[in-house]
Amino acid sequence: MQTGMLYGPPPSTDRVMAALETADGTIVTGCNIENATYGLTVCAERVAMWKALSEGHRKFRRIAIVAKTNDPTPPCGPCRQILWEFGGDLDVILANLRAETGRHKLSALLPLPFDARLLK
Ligand code: THU
Repeated sequence: MQTGMLYGPPPSTDRVMAALETADGTIVTGCNIENATYGLTVCAERVAMWKALSEGHRKFRRIAIVAKTNDPTPPCGPCRQILWEFGGDLDVILANLRAETGRHKLSALLPLPFDARLLK
């Protein structure tokens, strides 16, 4: 698995990895990918989800998010939205390089979500 530091001095030193498990047990991984203009950075969770969707996966069980930090790295707001829309009420497992640091249902991280059921 790569980290998001693809070249030169990166915008940040954060290395985040995600492992998304599909309903059939396939593991699709992602890492954060940063870029020189900072603002186009994409989180590990969305990279994993976009990879999985583009490879034809449609049903998911859980996602592990691993960061080289002492504190848990919970998914950002945009990632919560995308994970909810395409993954449903996933189990979200947080970890650092030593141990698991938290376990949550996505519905607890994104209460009252907006999603396709509300589109007219
Ligand atoms: N990041 C992730 O990859 N996932 C998260 O859940 C939080 C943040 C990345 C994006 C950026 O490369 C770095 O961590 C700092 O925000």
